[in-house]
Amino acid sequence: MTKEKKSEWNSNITFILAMIGSAVGLGNIWRFPNVLYSNGEGSFMIPYIVSLFLLGISFVLVEYAVGYKFKTSLSKILFKVQQKLEPAGWFILLIVFLITTYYVCVVGWDLIYVILSFTKVWGSNPDLFFSNNVLHSTDSITGIFTIVPTVLISIISIWFITWLIIQRDLNEGIGKVSRVLLPLLCIIVVVIVIFSLTLPGASIGYMQIFTPDWNALTNLNVWLAAFGQIVFSLSLGMAIALTYASYLPDKAKLVDNALIVAFSNSGFEVFNSIGIFSILGFMALSTGLNFNQLVTEGSGLAFIVFPQVFNIMGPSSQIIGPLFFLCILFAGITSIIALLEGVCYSISEKFDFSRKKTATIVCIVGVLISSIFATGAGSMILGVFDAFLNNFALLFAVLLECIIFGWIYDFDKLIDTLNEYSRIKVGKTWKTVIKFILPICIIGLWIQGVYTTLKDGNPVSLTIMTILTIVLIIVPIIFTKLPAKSKNYYEDI
Ligand code: PFF
Repeated sequence: MTKEKKSEWNSNITFILAMIGSAVGLGNIWRFPNVLYSNGEGSFMIPYIVSLFLLGISFVLVEYAVGYKFKTSLSKILFKVQQKLEPAGWFILLIVFLITTYYVCVVGWDLIYVILSFTKVWGSNPDLFFSNNVLHSTDSITGIFTIVPTVLISIISIWFITWLIIQRDLNEGIGKVSRVLLPLLCIIVVVIVIFSLTLPGASIGYMQIFTPDWNALTNLNVWLAAFGQIVFSLSLGMAIALTYASYLPDKAKLVDNALIVAFSNSGFEVFNSIGIFSILGFMALSTGLNFNQLVTEGSGLAFIVFPQVFNIMGPSSQIIGPLFFLCILFAGITSIIALLEGVCYSISEKFDFSRKKTATIVCIVGVLISSIFATGAGSMILGVFDAFLNNFALLFAVLLECIIFGWIYDFDKLIDTLNEYSRIKVGKTWKTVIKFILPICIIGLWIQGVYTTLKDGNPVSLTIMTILTIVLIIVPIIFTKLPAKSKNYYEDI
């Protein structure tokens, strides 16, 4: 960052591990199995692979090329592309920051479960335990005035861990943590998957992944779901790839790196879901419950269905339970630090703050916002944040980046940057994808997202969404108007 020497990855491996760490997160572990199951099971792999190649990798390449070419932060890049685009940069970063505030809370819930899983205190009704004993959920918004101490402590702990990592030098902090946590995460997942395959009934579960429902392929929503999963899983539009690529030393093989990261991320989620499905197969066989009652998404799968599974698993749950929650914890932490890096980089460049000072300010503001989720109404507000920011704001950010770099900026320069040292080259097809195909798909997903979000909306959620919209308009303008402390912010790169 500006006050210190410009950060640079100490090796390509560190960059790749940090990138995989940013992509592998809750989306891979608990979102993918449900999306796959609800959208044609085995045949879902076709739209998924098409979306991965055509849209996911194409967009990651844009971020890589831009970050690598400009070697600076998102807000400054957009200022350089065209001065009046700077607010768009702060807008995208604010979306990312707000997403992080609730992502931290979910990882905080998981931290609680890492501890609980040793004793299985959730008892015979994990559903009730989760909402009454962990979240202390209230049905009404007035619950916002009741703090839930355990959740608050776990949120503060996650923010503190995050601060410890991001305030350090790039390679000492993010680099080292990715080098340690990612291999550990892979080992844990391999152990869980191998173990789950030995369970009675496993084949009932994993066969679901290999049983195609070909009719699903004619359903547009299935294609949109595949694309939506790629957006979430590869963290598209969050300026993570852009920021991490800006730290790459010269002569980087950008296309090769992008392919390694994208394949590892998808490989991880497919492999992991074999384990999740096998465990659910075991549950279906043991309890006689219907399989589709078990495949839920998100917190329902991790904090309700899995504790139920551990209840009937016998002594091995004493090891598999903590490992499962640890896996979510590690995947979550490597994603959180990546989400924040782009935000911190722009702030420290504009205001000439040190890495430590920026990290401290960002984490303190983060704790304050995340505290809203540590109240009785926390999980309800979190649901609204998630629906609004993911279905609506984030897709808008991806679209904005496509328009800025595909239409406003001279796209051919990006093709040259990518091809300079890469073994695999990109060409005109890539340009067509970014300029036309990707924006059309995003608009489709966006319309679907707006429809579902508004359809499910009640007065409280609509009020929260209105407040978020106002914040997303005002704060970027303020950040743009604030004068840069560092003179070279306005100079040519
Ligand atoms: N790609 C990561 C995941 O799948 O969890 C990180 C992430 C994606 C975080 C999307 C937040 C988000 F909205």
